[in-house]
Amino acid sequence: VSEERATATGFPGPRVGIVGGGQLARMLAEAATPLGIHVRVLAATEGECAGEVVPDVVIGSPDDAEALRSFAATVDVLTFDHENVDHDALVQIERDGTPVRPGIATLRFADKAHQRREFAAAGLPVPPFVVIDPVRDLDHLSVADGFAARYGEMTNDGLIVLKASRGGYDGRGVWMLGRSELAAFLAAYRGAPLVLEPKLALERELAVLVARRPSGQIVTWPVVETIQVDGMCDEALLPAPVDVTLAAEAERIGRAVAITVDAVGVFAVELFVSDGQVLINEIAPRVHNSGHVTIEGSMTSQFSQHLRAVLDWPLGPTDSVAPAASMTNVVGDDADDPRDRQHLALAASPAAQLHLYGKAPRPARKIGHVTVLGTSLESCRAEARAAVDALIGGSGDDGVQGSSDG
Ligand SMILES: Nc1ncnc2c1ncn2[C@@H]1O[C@H](COP(=O)(O)OP(=O)(O)OP(=O)(O)O)[C@@H](O)[C@H]1O
Ligand SMILES: [Mg+2]
Repeated sequence: VSEERATATGFPGPRVGIVGGGQLARMLAEAATPLGIHVRVLAATEGECAGEVVPDVVIGSPDDAEALRSFAATVDVLTFDHENVDHDALVQIERDGTPVRPGIATLRFADKAHQRREFAAAGLPVPPFVVIDPVRDLDHLSVADGFAARYGEMTNDGLIVLKASRGGYDGRGVWMLGRSELAAFLAAYRGAPLVLEPKLALERELAVLVARRPSGQIVTWPVVETIQVDGMCDEALLPAPVDVTLAAEAERIGRAVAITVDAVGVFAVELFVSDGQVLINEIAPRVHNSGHVTIEGSMTSQFSQHLRAVLDWPLGPTDSVAPAASMTNVVGDDADDPRDRQHLALAASPAAQLHLYGKAPRPARKIGHVTVLGTSLESCRAEARAAVDALIGGSGDDGVQGSSDG
């Protein structure tokens, strides 16, 4: 910690700068406090939800190279709430002497086309895919049609999945189309290049969280099962109810990905289990929704671990603290704001651990999550669901959805 920087910010101890002021920055800040780490956030606008818990917020766009550089100059290490950042500015920031963690090469893996190509080249298991650029490739339609003709058969309903290589999240930027619908869709499409893959019959989806220090230490958490509703993560179950062979394969893939992407910090690998095979869906080079369950469920949370990793501090144990833990997202809709319904949730499930992010409800917007620890996944799920239903003013009769473990 240089004196110059201490003077610049007026805070003792390590200063971690986070680009982006969403809920991931907010939960990183919550983990930083007990470690004596000062967090400074670069938020694009006033009122991003991290601002409710972080007093040191600087307003500036992640696309503005000057804003990024002057922000980075006041912290000891730069890390991220999201990856939509000016990469050229990051190169300059590293030259100026502030470590960028994860590094620029790792951040490029936020691009789904880049991921698929690199993972396939590294011999890692990925679904069959092709990348097309409808804006630039003259033959994109014939390539897409040829792919659909070849792989449409693999799927139950003949659908092809098209994914925007950049800028998508929570299922936005993912389309599932029949072969006959491709031409019209592609003619109207104006975005980033697309990754095409068959719509697979999924037995379940898993996520493996990995942390890596710059000096090389790697740890993984026990593999989690994620359950999606409408293309968006709804629940995460720790540990995933899978046999040891499958869990070991997920962990092996997670470690191999850490090396392939040259990871620093925490990142998540989303996995498909299809036809008994574990395939990589995508990675997120940062803390991730599937890891929120580690806040209470693990000896070291993903947020605490990420801070340790980017500071190159020793990593903590990732063992679970209970036989079962389950997380359910709180998703906004037109219902009441959950922020005056906490007492109802706690009445429904006294063991529920509530996390409300300070975001106004909007349709399909993640505004919080609830975690329950216990002795069985089924009881944890039921208690978490009851708390979420009470928070969003739901009927509570939709029960546990989408279970793939009975
Ligand atoms: N090839 C596929 N076959 C079957 N289902 C798929 C396929 N690709 C995606 N899905 C479903 O859609 C979900 C979202 O896809 P993906 O993870 O690529 O999108 P995303 O918008 O980046 O998601 P998020 O940001 O929520 O992780 C997956 O978790 C899965 O449930
Ligand atoms: Mg995903």
